[in-house]
Amino acid sequence: MSNLMSNYSPLEVTFIKGEGCWLTDTKGDQYLDALSGIGVVNLGHCHPVITKNLVDQSQQLLHTSNVYRIGNQEELAQQLCNLANMDKVFFSNSGAEANEAAIKIARLYARSKNIEKPIILTANQGFHGRTMATLSATGQSKVQAGFSPLMSEFIHVNYDDIDAINYYKNNSDVVAVMVEPIQGEAGVIIPKNDYLNKVQDICKKNDWLLMLDGVQSCIGRTGKLFAHEHNGITPDILCLAKGLGNGVPIGACLAKGIASKMLTPGTHGSTFGGNPLVTAAALGVLEVFQNTKVLENVNEMSEYFKSEFETKFRNNEAVTDIRIKGLMIGIGLDNNIVDCSQLVKKALKDHLLINITGSSIRMLPPLIITKKEIDILISKLIKLIST
Ligand SMILES: Cc1ncc(COP(=O)(O)O)c(C=O)c1O
Repeated sequence: MSNLMSNYSPLEVTFIKGEGCWLTDTKGDQYLDALSGIGVVNLGHCHPVITKNLVDQSQQLLHTSNVYRIGNQEELAQQLCNLANMDKVFFSNSGAEANEAAIKIARLYARSKNIEKPIILTANQGFHGRTMATLSATGQSKVQAGFSPLMSEFIHVNYDDIDAINYYKNNSDVVAVMVEPIQGEAGVIIPKNDYLNKVQDICKKNDWLLMLDGVQSCIGRTGKLFAHEHNGITPDILCLAKGLGNGVPIGACLAKGIASKMLTPGTHGSTFGGNPLVTAAALGVLEVFQNTKVLENVNEMSEYFKSEFETKFRNNEAVTDIRIKGLMIGIGLDNNIVDCSQLVKKALKDHLLINITGSSIRMLPPLIITKKEIDILISKLIKLIST
């Protein structure tokens, strides 16, 4: 028994080293990591550029308060704004906190419009975090169970259903729509190609903020640096975390136009948010995306995975569908043929790290994965599903 609270139930393995797509446990055994710490180490474990930035920065200065200017933070904000066509950034320590900042901005936006009881439209099955506000925004009852009363400003509508959003067009209390470009925790749910464009059209017509939660789907995961680039749109708010630090805790709430003017001195803050160390890591992440062909690799490996999977699993009755965008992968399984509840442990025994959501396998492998590693992954999946 450990002294940790029981909110996690960790598997019986401890990793002590990581390199690229591979993790090594205390016995020296190697595991193929097809999860990247749940979409975090997108550039692979212990990427040399990130490690160097962390070592150099830790020898220089770890932390100063946001009471003072932080050079790395200003540099990172400028690069993110240039890359995402946004105006301003608030740095947090996690995805939930980035979303929390977005929700606070939406409240201030409501105040600016004299709306007393603002409504934010969010999606069923969406996931936005575990703080009280983001838990309320989340559209999964299993995550919310036991925590009522929740914040009442969220109305959940069906994902990828434009009529469900349009239904609220005459409701003058609505101030924002908050959705994931691709739903991650729901098991990789990819909306129709023009869904986000249509959501943006409705937001523009009604003066609502479009708040995209790109915590899981951005930072190269779908083959573009930001997932909504596939739609050629710019949201009012974009939340990032996970892959932004490649393993160090950093989140970012980017805002454009009126949304970027809502936070004024004293309205929000974070002790650690955007400190010199974490922003050094994130600068390294952006440098790697700029100087190497990571995004090309994502698109190439995505196609390779798809074609290999279709060849090898064409006649496999257990597989119902495959949902894939870049290296965000969901494989639907028939629960009557495969016992999904056992698959994570079974995969672990075969030294493969995956995740199960409902009756789907979810995989978010490092974006630097090679064809050889995909071959290993596919052969492990064949064993996993057919035994
Ligand atoms: C889309 C999305 N938003 C928010 C979060 C919460 O991020 P964090 O766990 O860093 O608070 C997650 C985490 O899985 C996520 O996938």
